[in-house]
Amino acid sequence: MKRLTVIGLGLIGASCCAALKKRSTEWLISGYSRTEATRQQALAKGLIDQSFDRISDAVADADLVLIAVPMGQFLPVVKAVSEARPSHSVVTDAGSTKGSVIRDLATVYGTTPSWFVPGHPIAGSEQSGVDAANPDLYVDHQVILTPDAQTAVDAIDLVSAFWSSLGASVSTMDVERHDEVLALTSHLPHVLAFNLVHALSDDDEHLEIFRYAAGGFRDFTRVAASDPTMWRDISLANREAILGGIDRFAERLGEMRQAIASGDGEWLMRSFERARTARKLFSSLTDQGVHPVTDTHPSVFTITEAQQGIHGTIRVPGDKSISHRSIMLGALADGVTTVDGFLEGEDAIATVQAFRDMGVQIDGPNEGRVTVHGVGRDGLKAPAAPLYMGNSGTSMRLLSGILAGQSFDSELTGDASLSRRPMRRVSDPLSRLGAVIQTSEDGTPPVQISGGHPLKGCHSEMQVASAQVKSALLLAGLYADGETSVTEPAPTRDHTERMLQGFGYPVKRDGATASVVGGGRLTACHIDVPSDISSAAFFLVAASIVPGSDLTLSHVGINPTRVGILEILKLMGAKIEVLNAREVGGEPVADLRVRYAPLRGIDVPEALVPLAIDEFPVLFVAACCAKGQTRVTGAEELRVKESDRIQSMVDGLSALGVVIEGTPDGAMIQGGGPDFRFAGGSVEAHEDHRIAMAFSVAGLMSCEPIVVNDCANVATSFPNFVGLARETGFPLTVSP
Ligand code: S3P
Repeated sequence: MKRLTVIGLGLIGASCCAALKKRSTEWLISGYSRTEATRQQALAKGLIDQSFDRISDAVADADLVLIAVPMGQFLPVVKAVSEARPSHSVVTDAGSTKGSVIRDLATVYGTTPSWFVPGHPIAGSEQSGVDAANPDLYVDHQVILTPDAQTAVDAIDLVSAFWSSLGASVSTMDVERHDEVLALTSHLPHVLAFNLVHALSDDDEHLEIFRYAAGGFRDFTRVAASDPTMWRDISLANREAILGGIDRFAERLGEMRQAIASGDGEWLMRSFERARTARKLFSSLTDQGVHPVTDTHPSVFTITEAQQGIHGTIRVPGDKSISHRSIMLGALADGVTTVDGFLEGEDAIATVQAFRDMGVQIDGPNEGRVTVHGVGRDGLKAPAAPLYMGNSGTSMRLLSGILAGQSFDSELTGDASLSRRPMRRVSDPLSRLGAVIQTSEDGTPPVQISGGHPLKGCHSEMQVASAQVKSALLLAGLYADGETSVTEPAPTRDHTERMLQGFGYPVKRDGATASVVGGGRLTACHIDVPSDISSAAFFLVAASIVPGSDLTLSHVGINPTRVGILEILKLMGAKIEVLNAREVGGEPVADLRVRYAPLRGIDVPEALVPLAIDEFPVLFVAACCAKGQTRVTGAEELRVKESDRIQSMVDGLSALGVVIEGTPDGAMIQGGGPDFRFAGGSVEAHEDHRIAMAFSVAGLMSCEPIVVNDCANVATSFPNFVGLARETGFPLTVSP
């Protein structure tokens, strides 16, 4: 076996490992990363065979060493590598700038050693970290090597063969040319995208601006979501060439400014036409696969029948409910709260942005780590503009509670889907505490809260079983005089109660009633966010319905108020084992092993409905594959989620040949049993993340492909769904 050592297990390094594991059995891979968690993840995902916490140990018997660290860390890393490398070994790197690599090597050796082959794979995405590892990242992409006359020919051959074996096409260039070309085609676009987003976000009205920003903004600025450390290092490492690019761009921009100012339509036409032609040429190159571009905002999923089972061990992203709450309570606490496993989905990011807009310093998220510099219970500042909550009902409802207790006025807005959702369920009970809070006439957003009105604790009997309403009241209760208590009609998720206690804030719990006494303080703490059982649900159902499946979902939160999906699937005959049950930071966690089992239809017990409220779209899919009828009742809440989930599923499943009847509070589904196959065809996700993922699961059991439109919102709760789905065996493709 040849031995490869990968130093740095971010997107680039980890994707090399994944690509190699997929395509070759000839290599034994050792991995080094500075963080234990990353090393463990890489091992657990089977990307590396051995992990090391010291570079010297990692390279001790390597044949090939790949350095895949941010440019700013290259020098100390290459020094450590060269001190410990065996003399026969070849070392290469994957950095985006090559002049800086040559300069760094010169400071150590005076020249580029013959065993070092500078390299640059032209591939990547705005995602980062081991989680984003993609075994096909390099397929049909170019890798540029920049050896010089002294580089050993054998070393060049080895590195070329290595990249070719990952599906890349390898070429060579000289260093200066490489840095000039990349400055213009990669570095300048990144710098401009960061700059545009920064400039707009400085504007007090940026939320308003972003709200109306559609495709153009999204396309132009996608790369501004890239890793800031990496791009700081690249900008400094390729300074001269990037400055040249900026000057060129500034000159053209000046001319364009002049043309617009003087009404010179002819100049504009010439410029736009020229650009358009050049861009079309580029598109045709990419269409021919000469230089493919990864589209990371797919909106259409196509899924075909799974030929084999769903397999592997995966960790789905962090729990959405807990991620939101970690930011909220961290912001209101005294001291610095650190969060690991944070969900980097759009919903949780909306919460982060809202607290930044209220003056809270929040670092990250970066590979799941967020640091919240708490401002204390009364330290929030008035936001300059309405707080935009995107698609996130949880952000809007919980924030309503917090904002009801502030001294300043505020307004909460959201996207089209959130703007249709009912808010009186929080504004009415908050008003009874003394809050001055208004919704639009039909009870939907925007929510306007006028500050400075003292709250007085009281008791509320909740009308709907909603953790969001309960949480809004308890959070407002932190600011109320005396005791605020709330009784729920059925148990709902209790993350707020648990986390308040984790922050040292007493919560009294007595049966269905929870209460807090206002005026206390929260103390910063560390939060470890488990994987979201609501995201795991898609895989639990997928593995249950596809014959031959055997899948393990690691580190899943199994809070008793969230395990309705497990109970319901077990009643249907699913084979799910709860392994290594443990408690992490006040929340129960376990690994879930799920294997294929023939399912049977059931009457879903109403008591389980609030405990599985987000999982019904995919449970409907399970019901279609079960033998006999499944009846869901008492689930009218599904009609006021991101879409009317009963209608969305009834429409889509009917189109796929299922006999299903919607009722006001649920549905009746005729299951076809183990031999059932969906008919295939095109369905709408209605911009609802969970509908999109549920139909993706249906596709696994479909005789013809299922095309799911409107899937972009999957990123609100499960940004790496497509990657993990493919990894476990979903034949899923995406297109814009
Ligand atoms: C959530 C509660 C649930 C759930 C939502 C998240 C929470 O809503 O559907 O995805 O984090 O409190 P309801 O409490 O309104 O049912």
